[in-house]
Amino acid sequence: MITPGLALDFSHATPAGLYNYYLGGRAWTEADRETAEAVIRISPDVPAMAKENFKFAGRAASWAVAEYGIRQILDIGVGIVDDVPLDSVEICVRNVAPDATVFAFDKDEVVLAHARALRRGYLGVLRGDITDPDGIFGHPELVGRVDLTEPVLIIAAAVLHFVDDPAAVMAGLRERLAPGSVVVLSHATKTRTSQARVSGMTKAYSNASSPIVFREEEDIAALADGWDLLPPGLVDVQLWSGDGAYEGELYETIRVVGMAARVSVGRAA
Ligand SMILES: C[S@@+](CC[C@H](N)C(=O)[O-])C[C@H]1O[C@@H](n2cnc3c(N)ncnc32)[C@H](O)[C@@H]1O
Repeated sequence: MITPGLALDFSHATPAGLYNYYLGGRAWTEADRETAEAVIRISPDVPAMAKENFKFAGRAASWAVAEYGIRQILDIGVGIVDDVPLDSVEICVRNVAPDATVFAFDKDEVVLAHARALRRGYLGVLRGDITDPDGIFGHPELVGRVDLTEPVLIIAAAVLHFVDDPAAVMAGLRERLAPGSVVVLSHATKTRTSQARVSGMTKAYSNASSPIVFREEEDIAALADGWDLLPPGLVDVQLWSGDGAYEGELYETIRVVGMAARVSVGRAA
């Protein structure tokens, strides 16, 4: 159910609608389609990149769950991914840990409505902004159902490039998470890629509900400062693999890099 009294604006493209279009879903608006087609004209490899990002999120999440035995997962910025022909984070996690507790968060009410209507596996589909960790960790439906003294897996895939200060987000997470917790994140980068396509895509997103910020790879790597960066480190999402078993295709232009980082177990809770 959409929050009563909330006015929804379908006149602007949204990150969730655009992503759903790239992934081959059907949950986009005309504004999403127009912006997505403009992006694809500039960067024809964006839909392929989006699919690689989506697969990275599921692969890294299921690896972290299997590797560290974490059973509490928060997928923040979950997107509208129910109708796409690839396994979601939640399905990937359940394939290795059927008993895992998975909560989905997003700040977009339309995303929440889709996730609530179509998904069965979440313990909760909750409104939350990744820039407001108190709102997320203090959400009334989370309190008492997630034990924050135990490790938690946070998935923040393709969400921090919609945020002004991702370092503050990471600091907020690190302060609140128990030792042994893991964050999986991916982020669009302007390093070693076509600047014309980066600026074209940035411009196309400038009228969307959240503009996109391509950051330098070294600034994205610095988000893991104070964390234990897990192998293979920060790499193109197509090359990220916990066990080295996956290698996707590298594309010519738009790059999205991903990593997994852990709160040191040596740190006092
Ligand atoms: C590109 S989609 C990524 C979906 C999914 N995480 C994935 O990578 O497959 C970005 C999602 O992040 C959400 N989002 C953007 N800014 C956010 C914020 N500050 N807090 C929570 N969600 C946010 C959008 O509404 C959208 O659903």
